[in-house]
Amino acid sequence: MEFVEAHGARIPIVGFGSMRLKEDAGREAILSAIRTGYRHIDTAAFYGNEKEVGDAIKASGVPRADIFLTTKVRDNNLKADDFARSLDNSLKLLGLPQVDLLLIHWPNLAVPAAESIGALNKAKRDGLTRHIGVCNYTVALLDEAWGVTREPLVTNQIEVHPFLDQSKVLAASRRHGMSVTAYCPIARGRVPGNPVLERIGAAHGKTASQVSLRWLTQQGIIVIPGSGNPERQQENFDVLDFSLSPAEMDEIATLKRADGRVVNPPQAPKWDV
Ligand SMILES: NC(=O)c1ccc[n+]([C@@H]2O[C@H](COP(=O)([O-])OP(=O)(O)OC[C@H]3O[C@@H](n4cnc5c(N)ncnc54)[C@H](OP(=O)(O)O)[C@@H]3O)[C@@H](O)[C@H]2O)c1
Repeated sequence: MEFVEAHGARIPIVGFGSMRLKEDAGREAILSAIRTGYRHIDTAAFYGNEKEVGDAIKASGVPRADIFLTTKVRDNNLKADDFARSLDNSLKLLGLPQVDLLLIHWPNLAVPAAESIGALNKAKRDGLTRHIGVCNYTVALLDEAWGVTREPLVTNQIEVHPFLDQSKVLAASRRHGMSVTAYCPIARGRVPGNPVLERIGAAHGKTASQVSLRWLTQQGIIVIPGSGNPERQQENFDVLDFSLSPAEMDEIATLKRADGRVVNPPQAPKWDV
C-alpha cells in the first residue's frame, strides 16, 4: 500500500467508504473489505453505521494500530457542547477510545469557525483523535479555518473524479500542506460505461473504475470508493499495480463538465468554480 503524508499523518492512499453499509449485511461487507486488504476505513456519525464498523474491525482480528479509521461530526453538531456529545457517542458506538482522523462533515456558516474548529482542536488535545481535518471546505473556508486552528488540518475530504473540475480547491488544500481525500471517486457509478475510461482501461487490462481510481491516486489523491460487493471491493483495491501515461492522464482531465457534481445537498457551501 502507498501512503499519503500530511502534517504528520500517514494515510493509506486507497481507503474504503462505508456509507450505506448497515446492519448485519453492512457489517459483513465492511469485514469483507478489511479481509480484501483495506486498512483505511471511512465512516461518519451521519451514516448510522459506526457500531457495524467497530464490530467489523474487531471481528477482523487485524490489530487496531494497522487500521486508519476516520469518522465525522455532522454540520448540525458543530457547537462546542454538541460536538463533544457527538464524538463521545461515535466513540461509544465504535467501541474505541480514539479514532485516527476526525472530520467536520459539512461546514455550517451559522457556527463561527473559531468554535467549530476549536472543538475539533479540543478533540485532538483530549486524545480522542490522532488527527483532524475537514470535508467539503471551499478555498475561502479553508483559509478561514487555517486562520483559527492551532493544530494542523491534515485532509480536505471532497468530491473528486474525472467529471468534476476541483482544481481551485485542490490547489488551496495543497497550499496549506493538506492531503485531499476523494469521495465519490467513481462518481457514484457514473464512471463505468464512460467510453474514454473504458478504452483506456482496456489498454491496461483494467476497468473504467480502476482507471478513475488510478487517475486520482497518481495525482497523490487519497480515494475512498465504497462497495457492498466483495468483487467490486477487490476491483477498487487493485489500482496501484499499473500506471497511466501522461497523455492518458491529460485525456481523462478533459472529461470534466459543468454538471459533473454528484453530491450537492442543501447545506452545501458556495462551491469554487
Ligand atoms: N464527506 C462527504 O460529504 C461524503 C459524501 C459522499 C461520500 N463520502 C464517502 O465517500 C465514500 C464513497 O462515495 P460514494 O459511495 O458516494 O461513491 P462511489 O464510491 O463513487 O460509488 C459507490 C457506488 O458505486 C458502486 N460501485 C462501487 N465500485 C464499483 C465498481 N468497481 N464498478 C461499478 N460500480 C461500483 C457501488 O455499488 P455496489 O455497492 O453495488 O458496488 C455504489 O453504488 C462513501 O462511502 C463515504 O464514505 C463522503
